[in-house]
Amino acid sequence: MSTSILIVQSGLTERLRKSRWPARLDLLQSGTGLLLALFMWVHMFFVASILLGETAMWSVARMFEGYFFLGGAHPRLVFGAAAGVFLLFVLHALLAMRKFPGDYRQYRKLRAHVRAMRHEDSTLWIWQVYTGFALFFLASAHLYQMLAWPQNIGPYASADRMWSDALWPFYLVMLLAVELHGGIGLYRLAMKWNWPGLSRNFLKRLKWGITGFFLVLGLMTLGAYMKIGFEHQARYGERYQPEALPAWLERLAPEGDFPLRGKERAP
Ligand code: HEM
Repeated sequence: MSTSILIVQSGLTERLRKSRWPARLDLLQSGTGLLLALFMWVHMFFVASILLGETAMWSVARMFEGYFFLGGAHPRLVFGAAAGVFLLFVLHALLAMRKFPGDYRQYRKLRAHVRAMRHEDSTLWIWQVYTGFALFFLASAHLYQMLAWPQNIGPYASADRMWSDALWPFYLVMLLAVELHGGIGLYRLAMKWNWPGLSRNFLKRLKWGITGFFLVLGLMTLGAYMKIGFEHQARYGERYQPEALPAWLERLAPEGDFPLRGKERAP
């Protein structure tokens, strides 16, 4: 069948004007990517609260369950947040699939071009494809866990998952993938939409700086969970319960949970 017959049969010749949809889909992909990257930064700081101690991470986890303002912990809230992130993630992945090489021949051509040109931005793009592909599986598995067992988030529960459930290699690979993917993605967004109008060189340095910062923070966090998990392995399954919280936080906790409240507690 000749190419012209194919074009006529597909109805493309009847189009009166060019479609705006590719541009709209591109905008949607950029928007979902930006939201996910911003979520990841905030998520990283919350998960890293373990570096401030078990009680700090316990408080952050309970806060997301509404413990300090709804009179008790409601893991359903975490389920809701994870479901929202999952939807965003699926939409972003679906839109990104448009850009993936369609078959092995296209992939070989792309690799050959990137090698021949030695063009850094094209190399970064191909790394975004690799890490994005890995995240299809890694982030889905992680989000599924958060959806299925939202009540199992806490200093001991998370540390047990890392160490006794042997998930630390999974988290290590996901950390590398997500930080590279997010960093390259934000850099490409800034270049594409020319916002905030900084030079390519500066943006590139900023990107590596931010990626380096979150990688170091992520590795320290991973190390902290592994250490707690290692020390806690004999008591696997036990949940952390702080004896006391900072006075201002205890005041927000449900009545009776911290009987030695405020001034009655030994200094
Ligand atoms: C609302 C959805 C999410 C929740 C509630 C959540 C929660 C958590 C928690 C509690 C941990 C500590 C380990 C554990 O308990 O298993 C963790 C670690 C991690 N999460 Fe998430 N997460 C969410 C979404 C995501 C997404 C979408 C990604 C990336 C695509 C992601 C990437 C990571 C990484 C890389 C770590 C390891 C951090 C480190 O070792 O420093 N998370 N997450």
